[in-house]
Amino acid sequence: MARGALLLHPAVKPLVFVASLLPLAWLFYGAATNNLGANPAESLIRSLGDWGLRFLCLTLAITPARLLLGLTPLARLRRMLGLFTYAYVVLHLLAYAWFDMGLDLAEIVKDIIKRPFILVGFAAFLLLTPLALTSANRVVKAMGAKRWQALHKSVYLIAVLAILHFFWMRAGKNDFAEVAVYAAVLGVLLGWRLWRWARQRGAARVARGPGALDSRVRGNDGVR
Ligand code: HEM
Repeated sequence: MARGALLLHPAVKPLVFVASLLPLAWLFYGAATNNLGANPAESLIRSLGDWGLRFLCLTLAITPARLLLGLTPLARLRRMLGLFTYAYVVLHLLAYAWFDMGLDLAEIVKDIIKRPFILVGFAAFLLLTPLALTSANRVVKAMGAKRWQALHKSVYLIAVLAILHFFWMRAGKNDFAEVAVYAAVLGVLLGWRLWRWARQRGAARVARGPGALDSRVRGNDGVR
């Protein structure tokens, strides 16, 4: 059986979908049974933010996992995980707007401008929105692969902003342990892409450059 063939099973996508909803169901259950601790609103806002960040990490892990482990069918799950990232972030924003700000739009705008960590989170949300809106196949087709890929590169900036948002929020409490874990995970995922990009660029330059060796001279040891 080809590597990752199990991932092509028709049940995989629905299973991942249901699994992605479990944290939300757990939070709803906690809220309904009064089990979210002393400050349920804070716990809800924070947990939704945490899950937004976790789904962002999962989405960014798909391509390295696919290429390094040879699990090509993993690509089928990337869009769904990306959309769950957005869904959890939207719910995080809505929970904040509702429970912290009483849905007072003027107060929300004031708060976003006043508190830098919220401004940074909001910028990440604004950048995520076009990525979610352009995820459908027909939009990718209409945009063309190159423009779509260029737009979706902003996910790297979003990852940096999300970490900055988290770091800034925790700075007040001098509690960076969790932030460091997420920063390390995202650092590895983005660092791997940077390394791959630099390697591909180097290979392309060697193949193109005036000193590029003729394949007959270099025998079978050409750049791959
Ligand atoms: C990509 C976008 C975002 C991500 C990934 C994200 C993630 C997070 C994370 C991980 C936390 C810390 C949770 C914890 O302490 O365990 C947090 C806190 C928080 N975020 Fe976000 N966030 C995002 C966008 C936003 C937006 C758009 C807003 C509101 C405009 C916002 C408002 C807040 C607030 C108010 C807290 C602190 C909650 C509290 O102390 O009670 N975030 N966020």
